[in-house]
Amino acid sequence: MTIARSVILDGRSVRYLEAGVGRPLILLHPFPFSADAWRPQLDRVPDGWRFLAPDLRGFGPSSGGGAPALTMDDHARDVVALMDAWKVERAVVAGLSMGGYIAFALFRLAPERIDALVLADTRPQPDTPEGRKGRLALLETLRSNGVSAVADDMLPKLLGETTRRERPTVVAQVRAMIEEAAPAAIEAAVQALLSRPDSTSDLARIGCPAIVIVGEEDTITPPADARAMHAAMAGAQLTVLPRAGHLSNLEVPDEFTNALRIK
Ligand code: MLT
Repeated sequence: MTIARSVILDGRSVRYLEAGVGRPLILLHPFPFSADAWRPQLDRVPDGWRFLAPDLRGFGPSSGGGAPALTMDDHARDVVALMDAWKVERAVVAGLSMGGYIAFALFRLAPERIDALVLADTRPQPDTPEGRKGRLALLETLRSNGVSAVADDMLPKLLGETTRRERPTVVAQVRAMIEEAAPAAIEAAVQALLSRPDSTSDLARIGCPAIVIVGEEDTITPPADARAMHAAMAGAQLTVLPRAGHLSNLEVPDEFTNALRIK
């Protein structure tokens, strides 16, 4: 059973979703979602695992709608503070897309807290010049036309062609989740995305067990990026999920959870 709880961090109430008992695994959600994006994994948590999914700052029902300027390091510090609040010394850390960028920041900040890493539909590189232009255009869309227009813009990129063609319920759920995001949270997250550093040189230093997961139809962080990331980490495993795009955990949830097989 998935339970919603909250803790107070620096006077802010932070919601997190929790399911299962056992080895802790922290799920860091993509942009512009909340911990709810992990419900398919939480609702069928495998035996022996305790899944913990926090709302990243600004996102989710308890957030108060964003913070003025954030970095991936701010998010990583929040994760450490949450681990302290949970009395979890070490955990498997699984980040999807923006969650993966935060996992890299956490690796630089507190590698001793990471038991193993799962890097899903993410990449170590910062934005390309073209990617930066796209972010600024998204902010323009948000300011002129609101969050629904952001959903219109993002949906075709976030979801794989199979999902767009065959899974109308997933498309509707993803749209509804984007529309729940507070505009200020989107603005703050875009600043964090724009300012994130290059994590490529960290890959060779990742000595803990690592799993790379990617949807075969992911066009934002495509399989070629995942293969390169996998090749740069000694001893990492790679799973390519067929019939899934960038939001692979929502598009093929059971296959995604099966891929979280950490030694
Ligand atoms: C995400 O899913 O978190 C975003 O697509 C990240 C990105 O745009 O780089």
